[in-house]
Amino acid sequence: TRTAAASRLPFEPITPVSHLVDEFTVPAGYRWEALVRWGDPIFPDAPAFDLHNQSAAAQARQFGYNNDYLDVIADRGGLTGVLVTNHEYVNPGIMFPPSSDPAELRRRSEIYKVAQGMTVVEVARDRIGGPWRIVTGGARNRRITVESEFAFTGPASGSALLQTAGDPSGTVVHGTLGNCAGGTTPWGTVLSGEENFNGYFRAAPDTVARKRYGFADTATSTGWETWDPRFDGSAPGYENEGNRFGYIVEIDPQDPESTPVKHTAMGRFKHEGANVRIAEDGRAVAYMGDDERGDYLYKFVSKHKFNPKDNPGARKQNRRLLSEGDLFVARFSGNSPAAEIDGTGKLPSDGAFDGSGEWIALTRKGASAVAGMSIEEVLVNTRLAADLVGATKMDRCEDVEPHPTSGRVYVACTNNTQRGTAGRPPVDEPNPRATNRDGHVIELTELRGQSGERFAWSILLLCGDPASITQTYFAGYPKEQVSPISCPDNVAFDTEGNLWISTDGQPSAIRKNDGLFKVPLEGPERGHVQQFLSVPRDAETCGPVIRAEEGVVFVAVQHPGEEGSFAAPTSLFPDYGSQAPGAVAAPRPSVVQVWRG
Ligand code: FEO
Ligand code: CA
Ligand code: CA
Ligand code: CA
Repeated sequence: TRTAAASRLPFEPITPVSHLVDEFTVPAGYRWEALVRWGDPIFPDAPAFDLHNQSAAAQARQFGYNNDYLDVIADRGGLTGVLVTNHEYVNPGIMFPPSSDPAELRRRSEIYKVAQGMTVVEVARDRIGGPWRIVTGGARNRRITVESEFAFTGPASGSALLQTAGDPSGTVVHGTLGNCAGGTTPWGTVLSGEENFNGYFRAAPDTVARKRYGFADTATSTGWETWDPRFDGSAPGYENEGNRFGYIVEIDPQDPESTPVKHTAMGRFKHEGANVRIAEDGRAVAYMGDDERGDYLYKFVSKHKFNPKDNPGARKQNRRLLSEGDLFVARFSGNSPAAEIDGTGKLPSDGAFDGSGEWIALTRKGASAVAGMSIEEVLVNTRLAADLVGATKMDRCEDVEPHPTSGRVYVACTNNTQRGTAGRPPVDEPNPRATNRDGHVIELTELRGQSGERFAWSILLLCGDPASITQTYFAGYPKEQVSPISCPDNVAFDTEGNLWISTDGQPSAIRKNDGLFKVPLEGPERGHVQQFLSVPRDAETCGPVIRAEEGVVFVAVQHPGEEGSFAAPTSLFPDYGSQAPGAVAAPRPSVVQVWRG
């Protein structure tokens, strides 16, 4: 055994914070600051944020709402870079006071179209390890909205399933929706998952596919369907518009002129995100979750090999890697008798929820691997294909990420309160708790290389508050010594090899605000969950970026004050009554940086 080197990011775990407290909490010896907030100007011509005088023209030039995925990609030298973030959805009820005026609702509806999407903004700092600031007017600054142009790639591009009256070619689509988690690729681009896209459409569930993807004939919260036929599933010529969302999108944050793409080869479902590791054979492997109760875990293996050279030709080749390859879905097998999986979370007699698994091909060598479905059908109605091959129904796979050095894959199963209830999937060894309120994290080990088709797996964490009656498990670490943790959502790794987990749902599950947690994976500390920070009331913690070598951490604080109203906010994060220019008395989704100081 070796003694672990002293961490560059040392901390004493914070005390968990009640879900009624509106505070951002960091460990002793650390400071925090909002690096960029909803409404902050991104371009020199953008007006200062004015909560009471919002407009679509202003919002299109300002930082968007509900930031989720986040990365800060430093340039050579480390003092400049770009911040890339997703804006998943909007909260009309806390962005605006109530209104029933149709003209006003239509005006707001146009604001929602530009408050969502993505932002790229340049950042700079004075020293490594110090706080960053945004560079308004940076050359790479960019807003991507629900009207930005994307090109389809892959086998379903141009197919009849993607054609509409607005795009008879089926190759170009405007906008991205429900952008949740994501990943930065080894070639420097950013992937983003289109998650709950169905909710932006008013579309009767009149086909098997529409029903399987959750479309409904009900008014949406943005109201787009009342004036934009794209979002009205009954508008002639636009029946397929809903097929044009639900993909992994890829953007190049270094080139503001580049056209972002949607990769049909990676399938269509409620994509939480995607994270890539280069396999031993040189191919790019992306891991992806479908965040819906009882849906599946996927992986994509590129046909071509990653080109590690750092030149324009190599970068161009790499940007095509995710356009061609094989798509797989996971089938898990447990190794304990089914009778020992009693639904409580009590460990079976072999001492572990574990077993083996296989990646079942949905596409192979550019062709469908599913009997009765064309490759276009498999890639557009991927859930229907996965249903046919006997994939394992999971407890809502959120972020799925391979460890940069070990290659082991960490799968956050956030919760599934319907597991084991009438008409729903029963408990099984990979999803062993009935009415799983607190979620779990699976550690998956590829047995035949990163691009292979066999794996071993075990449950690393059964989340929860160990002080409650719920069965919990922390890789065997003493329960009395861990921070309570519930509803794991995003995962990340630091340069010291540790897993970090951010949560979404702790307030309703364990009555604590959501937070960010460190989990060592090796040695005697394996499973020692330690809470690093806590986010404000009603917020989820997203997009963690851990720069242990610099003593810096970033998180996206999404939907602070979501349970409140415009007139009676439950959070005033992050301005908290500040009289500084641009501060407002309303909750603002923000990217926060935390540093030693
Ligand atoms: Fe947008 Fe699955 O969280
Ligand atoms: Ca077992
Ligand atoms: Ca998420
Ligand atoms: Ca992640």
